[in-house]
Amino acid sequence: MTYIVTDNCIKCKYMDCVEVCPVDCFYEGENMLVIHPDECIDCGVCEPECPAEAIVPDTEDTADGKWLALNAKYAVSWPNITVKGEPPADAEDWDGVKNKLDEHFSPNPGTSS
Ligand code: SF4
Ligand code: F3S
Repeated sequence: MTYIVTDNCIKCKYMDCVEVCPVDCFYEGENMLVIHPDECIDCGVCEPECPAEAIVPDTEDTADGKWLALNAKYAVSWPNITVKGEPPADAEDWDGVKNKLDEHFSPNPGTSS
């Protein structure tokens, strides 16, 4: 099992999660983070820290493993992030917007770290 980052992180990207992870297994894209499934130790401390409630155990993957696959894919190409950066100025406006993966996901790496 692992925890995974899901749709509502996109364009919210609060980054509170990286501050609490004991094994530094978050990786940064341009507008969301992912968790490396092989590095996550399933401690669960990041889940309640996310203001957007975007982190869930992979057993609650809402899309038949799609989010687990996306986390695994980008964790090996995006840079590691261990310190919280500046969230987007309009992060609150994006909280709860539907279909962010289809309409707003960026495969580009992040630059905070
Ligand atoms: Fe890190 Fe624990 Fe969250 Fe996994 S569950 S990403 S180890 S804080
Ligand atoms: Fe994303 Fe939540 Fe972390 S919005 S960056 S998973 S605190």
